Amino acid sequence: MIDPISIHQVRWSWWVSPNAFRRMALGAVAALSVIVVTGAAVRLTGSGLGCPDWPTCNGRQVVAAWAFNPIVEFGNRMVVTAVTIGVVLVLLAALARRPRRRDLVWLSMGLVLGVAAQIPLGGLLVLLKLAPPLVMAHFLFSLVVLGDAVVLHRRAGQPDSAPRPVVGRDLVRLSRLILVMVAVVVSLGTAVTGSGPHAGDIHAKRLAISFHGIAEVHSTAVMLLIGLTLAGLFAFHQAGAPAGVQRRGRILLEVMAAQAVIGYVQYFTRVPALLVGIHVAGATAVWVAALRFHLGLFARPMPAPVAEEAPAALAVGDDMLVLHSVERETLATRHN
Ligand code: HEM
Repeated sequence: MIDPISIHQVRWSWWVSPNAFRRMALGAVAALSVIVVTGAAVRLTGSGLGCPDWPTCNGRQVVAAWAFNPIVEFGNRMVVTAVTIGVVLVLLAALARRPRRRDLVWLSMGLVLGVAAQIPLGGLLVLLKLAPPLVMAHFLFSLVVLGDAVVLHRRAGQPDSAPRPVVGRDLVRLSRLILVMVAVVVSLGTAVTGSGPHAGDIHAKRLAISFHGIAEVHSTAVMLLIGLTLAGLFAFHQAGAPAGVQRRGRILLEVMAAQAVIGYVQYFTRVPALLVGIHVAGATAVWVAALRFHLGLFARPMPAPVAEEAPAALAVGDDMLVLHSVERETLATRHN
C-alpha cells in the first residue's frame, strides 16, 4: 500500500521555468494574432456598433441582447477580456521566472500596457461612431502590441547577452528596410479599408479618398516590397547567410506572395467580407514573419561563466539565502 503523503512533505513551487515561460510567450503571440482577426470580424459583419455604448453594451445593459450584431460585438469584448487576463498572467510569469530577467519583465509589462491602452481606444471607437482614423490607429496599434509579443517570445529563447548580427551590416540594413516597407504597406492597407465598403456600421463615416486610387497605391507598394524581398533573399543567399535565416526569408516571401494573391482576388471580386477577413489574417502573418526574419539576424551567445568564487548558501528557516562573498565578509565582521 502506498503511504499517504503528509501535507507537510508537499512543497509548492511558484517558480516558472524558462521553457514554460517561452510557451506562455508563444501563447501571447497566438492570442494577440487571433484578436486582430476577431476585431476585423466585428467590422466585417457590420457589428461595430452592435453594442452602441461602452463599457456597458447598451445603456445600463452590460450583456448584449440576443441578436446577431450585439452578440458579435459583445463576443469580441469577451475575447478582449480573456486576452487581458492572459497578458497579466504572462507578466506574473515573467516575475516568477527563475532566473528572473529584466528584459522579459519589461517586454511583458509592454504587453499589459499595450492591451490596457487598446481597451479605452476601442471604447472611444464606439463612442465616436467608428471614425476611420481611429479604426486605423486601433488596427496598427494592435500590430505593435503583437510585435512586442513576438520579440518577447524570441528573447525568451535566448540568453540575456548583447545581440550579435549573424550577417553583414548591409544585410541587416536591408532587412530593416523590408520591415519598414511592410509597415508602410500595412498602413496603406488600413487607409484602403477606411475608404472601402466595410465600415463596421452603415452610418459610419468613410475617409474622403478614392477607394480605387488608394488600393492602387497599396498594391504598388506591395509589388515594391515583394521585389525588395526577392532581391534581399538573393543577397542573403550570395552572402552565405545561415540556413535558418534563409529559411525564414523564404517563409516571409511565400506569406507575402499568398497575401498579394488574396489582395488582388478580393479587389477584383468587390471585397467580399470572408476574403477581407482572410486578408487581415494574412497581413498579421506577414507582420509576424517579417519580424521573425529580422530578429533571426541576431544571435545572443551564452555569456562566459564568471570566474568568481561560487556564492555560499545559508539556510534560514525554510528559505535559502544566497550570499556573495562581499556580504559574507560583512556578516563575519559583524559577528566578530
Ligand atoms: C504583402 C501584401 C499585403 C499586405 C501585408 C496587405 C495588408 C493589408 C491591410 C493591413 C489591410 C487593412 C485591413 C484592415 O484595416 O482591416 C489591407 C486592406 C486591403 N488590401 Fe491589402 N495587403 C497586401 C496586399 C494587397 C494587394 C496586392 C491588394 C490588391 C489590390 C490588396 C488589396 C486590399 C484591399 C482592397 C483592402 C481593403 C479591404 C477592405 O475593404 O477592408 N492588398 N491590406
